[in-house]
Amino acid sequence: ARPLVVAVDGTSGSGKSSTCRQVAQRLGLAYLDTGAQFRAVTWWMLEHGVDVHDTEAVAARAAEPALESGTDPTGPTITVDGRDVSTQIRSEAVTRAVSPVSTVPAVRARLLDLQRAVIAASLHDGAAGIVVEGRDIASVVWPQAEVKVYLTADAAARAARRAAEEGGSDLTATQETLLERDRIDSGRATAPLVRADGAVHLDTTPFTLEEVVDQVVSLVPQQV
Ligand code: C5P
Repeated sequence: ARPLVVAVDGTSGSGKSSTCRQVAQRLGLAYLDTGAQFRAVTWWMLEHGVDVHDTEAVAARAAEPALESGTDPTGPTITVDGRDVSTQIRSEAVTRAVSPVSTVPAVRARLLDLQRAVIAASLHDGAAGIVVEGRDIASVVWPQAEVKVYLTADAAARAARRAAEEGGSDLTATQETLLERDRIDSGRATAPLVRADGAVHLDTTPFTLEEVVDQVVSLVPQQV
């Protein structure tokens, strides 16, 4: 069988990460979390005292953090300058700063190269392929993906899931942060969040994680 790419884009908190990790495990595919890369750059900027709202300052230092993405769906997502920051990149400070940093074209250009290199490396002879999640995978990063999925969910449902994950954080605040990220991600000039041509839209609101995983797996052509 030829290796394949499953591109999963969608709004913040729609269940992309959990879904993609499980789909990858079920199908024996690698997994790339591109959101973790944007978060890692953002974490680095905060660590180095860069003003994340100063586009030029962020652009000037975009090449500095040394990033390495893990592609094991059960493993850690990312290291920066050799340090595993899988936990740190989920902090509230990073979550609030990541969408502004992700609007900066120099950041996107740098990560685009990295993303394409990781994907290409997973498509060698005998490999099964890779599940890639983000906002612009099917539209910009890998438009030739064999399977394209666009995941959304009602804002209230997303906030409830996220608040539960975060151990009972404030629902209204969580929902506001999610919607603010969607607004910036959808409105930016470079590679905004869109449903790409040919992407199957799945609204996950009424479904359990397992049901969503089943639906995504059913879109993947049978490997023979
Ligand atoms: O998926 P996650 O919520 O971890 O993504 C964090 C942020 O990274 C998004 O809100 C978005 O601003 C940015 N992002 C992006 N393009 C991607 C993946 C993530 O702009 N392909």
